[in-house]
Amino acid sequence: MLPNHVRIVEVGARDGLQNEKTIIPTSVKIELIDRLSACGLECIEASSFVSPKWVPQLADAEAVFAGITRKPGVDYPALVPNMQGYERARAAGVTSIAVFTAASEAFNQKNINASIDESIERFRPVMERAHTEGVRVRGYVSTVLGCPYQGAVPVSDVVRVSKRLHALGCDEISLGDTIGVGTPVKARAMLHAVSGEVPMKALAVHFHDTYDQALANIYACLEEGVRVVDSSVSGTGGCPYAKGATGNVASEDVTYMLQGMGIETGIDLDKLIETGAWLARQLGKPTSSRVTRARMGE
Ligand code: HMG
Ligand code: MG
Repeated sequence: MLPNHVRIVEVGARDGLQNEKTIIPTSVKIELIDRLSACGLECIEASSFVSPKWVPQLADAEAVFAGITRKPGVDYPALVPNMQGYERARAAGVTSIAVFTAASEAFNQKNINASIDESIERFRPVMERAHTEGVRVRGYVSTVLGCPYQGAVPVSDVVRVSKRLHALGCDEISLGDTIGVGTPVKARAMLHAVSGEVPMKALAVHFHDTYDQALANIYACLEEGVRVVDSSVSGTGGCPYAKGATGNVASEDVTYMLQGMGIETGIDLDKLIETGAWLARQLGKPTSSRVTRARMGE
C-alpha cells in the first residue's frame, strides 16, 4: 500500500556539492540551504566534517553551519567519519549526524580507507558520545545494489551491515545505490530483506540515477513500505571515490511524482524548481531534473 506522507531527505548541499569539480563559494552553499528550508524541506543534509584532503569541496563545513539560518523544526545533518569529525561538527553546533560505511569492502577502502569492521569500530565511540549528548545519528550503507570495484554485492552483506549499524544505535539507515545500477525488482527485494532485520520505519532509500532507474526504484520501494527518500535538488551528486557515479535522483522529480500520487511531502514544488534552476546557474551546468527542464521550457 502507498503511504499518505513521505519524508524527503535533501542531500544536494552535501552529496551534490562534494562531487563538483570546482569549489563552490561558501556564500552559495549557505544560500542554497536557506532556499531549501524556504521550500518546506524538513531535513537538509548540509555538509561533511570529513578530511579536507579527501573532499576539499566541503572543507568549509564550519563556515556553512555558522552562516545558515536554522529554521525551527528543520533537521540539518552532517556527515561524520570519525571522532575528529564529530568534535568538529559539535563545535559547529551540529545536532544531527550521519556515519557512513558500505556493503562492499572494496568501496569502503577507497572511500574511507578502512574495512567495514574498522569503520564500525570507529563509529562506536562517536555513537556513544552522540547518545550521551542527544545527537541524532543516521547510518549510510553504500553500494547496496552494486559496487564499482567489486561488482555484484550480495544482499546478505547489505542486511548484515544494516543490522550492525542499527544495533549500534543508528536511528535511521539509508540504503545507498551509490552508482545507480539498481533496477526495481532488485531494489525491492533488497529492501524487503533488510526490513526483515531492521524495522521499515527506520529505513530510507538513496538512489543515484546513473542508469535512469531511480524513480522506478523509489516507486517499487514505496510499495514495499519505505517512507523516507533521499534526493538532491537539480539532481546533483556523486561520490568522488565511486568511479562512474552520477547525480542523485532530483528532488523536483521525486516531489512531482509523489504529488501526482497524492502523497504529502510538505514541499512547495514551484519554489523547489526555482531553487534547482538557480543552483544550475550557479554551477554553470544544465539541471538534471526533468521536471525543472519541462517547467522552465528548456
Ligand atoms: P585517513 O587518511 O585514513 O585518516 O582518512 P587519518 O586518520 O590517517 O588522517 C589523515 C589526515 O586527515 C590527518 O591529517 C587527520 O588529521 C585528517 P594530517 O595529520 O595528515 O595533517 N583528518 C581529518 N581532518 C578533518 N576532519 C576529519 C578528519 N579525519 C582525519 N574528520 C578519512 C580517513 C575517513 C578521514 C578519509 O578517508 C575521509 O575523510 N573520507 C571521506 C570520504 C567522503 O567524504 N566520501 C563521500 C561521502 S560518502 C558518499 O558520498 C556515499 C553516500 O552518499 C551514500 C551513497 O551514495 O551510497 C553517503
Ligand atoms: Mg550518495
